[in-house]
Order: sequence, then C-alpha cells, then structure tokens
Amino acid sequence: MDSDTPEEVMEEFKERRFGGWGVLQLTAGTGLAVYAMWAGLLMPGFRRVPLRLQVPYLPASRKQVHNVMTLLKGRSGGIADLGSGDGRIVLEAYRQGFHPAVGYELNPWLVRLSNFHAWRRGHFGKVSYLREDLWKVSLVDCKNVTVFLAPSVLPLLQKKLLAELPEDALVVAGRFPFTDWTPCKVEGEGVDRAWAYYIQAQRQPAAPSHPAEGKLNS
Ligand SMILES: C[S@@+](CC[C@H](N)C(=O)[O-])C[C@H]1O[C@@H](n2cnc3c(N)ncnc32)[C@H](O)[C@@H]1O
Repeated sequence: MDSDTPEEVMEEFKERRFGGWGVLQLTAGTGLAVYAMWAGLLMPGFRRVPLRLQVPYLPASRKQVHNVMTLLKGRSGGIADLGSGDGRIVLEAYRQGFHPAVGYELNPWLVRLSNFHAWRRGHFGKVSYLREDLWKVSLVDCKNVTVFLAPSVLPLLQKKLLAELPEDALVVAGRFPFTDWTPCKVEGEGVDRAWAYYIQAQRQPAAPSHPAEGKLNS
C-alpha cells in the first residue's frame, strides 16, 4: 500500500518540473481544444470556405439593427442578409414589411437558432433562413441587401454585388463600410454605424478629379 501523506504528494507535485515534452503536450492539447471549439461550435459548415473568407459570428447590437433599419426606410420588396447569424436583421426586416426576408448562413446551429427566434416571435415559416454559402448564392433578384462581415472580405463581396445585383438595389453595411464606395447615407456612430449604398451609383465611372484628365482619356 502507498503510505504517502497528502502533504508528501503535494510536495512532490510542487517539485515536479515541466520538461520541454510536457510543455509541447500542454500547448498541443490547448491548441486542439481551441480548434475543436472553433470548428465544432463556432464555425461548422465552413470547411469548404477558404480560410481568408471565413468570418466568425458576432451579432449586431440593438443600435446597429436600428441603424440598418433606418437606412432601409422607404424601401420595399425582398431583403437578403448575407451571413445572417441568429437571424435578428431578417426578423426585424420582416416585421417592418420586407417580404420575402431571407438570411443566408453557413453555421447550422445559427440557422436553428434563427428558426427558434422566428418561432418564438410567431413568424416561423414566414421568414427563411437558408444554410447556404453566401459566396455561392445568386443575388440577381435582391433589391435590398444587408451585410455585417469582416473588412477583409468586403473587397471581394463588393465585386460580387456589382456583378449580380439589379440596378435599383440598395446595400446596407453594418459596422464596416465598403471603403471604395460612396454611401448615400450613414446612420449612427462608432461600432453601431451603418452605411447605405445605391448599387447604380457605384457602377457609374468615377468623375475625373481634374478636368484635363477626362480630355486626355477621351
Ligand atoms: C458578424 S456575423 C453577423 C450576423 C448577423 N448578420 C447580424 O448582423 O447579427 C457574420 C455571420 O456571417 C456568417 N458567415 C460567414 N461567412 C459565411 C458564408 N460564406 N456563407 C454564409 N454565412 C457566412 C457567420 O457564420 C456569421 O454568423
């Protein structure tokens, strides 16, 4: 039988030093646990999306949703939220008269959560949350588009929106603006700020900054 007292065991534990192998094991274990959390809970469904295009979930604040909806005032018809998270923008847009209201979201947990929120608010089946990769959906029929993604993916998204949206479409970006585009309206401050862009205006060739520049090019 082992006759070590608890004090002796503690003393032995305190004296034990982690060698290089121990540190490596600890680091690898922690890394694996973090990756499992990331892949299993936060980013499932993203395996086929290139790493540089992966955007994590961060819900829009109440103020951000309010600012987005303010910029959409006077608009009607359908709306699509690209990367719809827990569905809050889609739900609010539906409540304010946008039909059909569609959210594209890759994370299946968030799609389920969105449907739960819709059901709780009595709108289940009236709004759509589709488990789709936003880079693969066609946007040719979208008159109103909302996005809250990462600045790193906006230049590529800008190209997709310019190529696919109808001429009368309005794009509303939350938190991060499209830096190459000129907004028609901005709402809110700080992290809750939102920007609205008419797609038609972004397609117009930029006016020459110097009158002679235009003549030289013609
Ligand atoms: C910053 S969150 C915004 C969520 C929501 N739009 C809001 O405003 O509360 C971005 C969301 O986009 C989703 N997402 C990222 N890349 C996507 C992709 N390729 N296809 C569909 N959804 C994507 C993420 O899972 C995440 O839920």
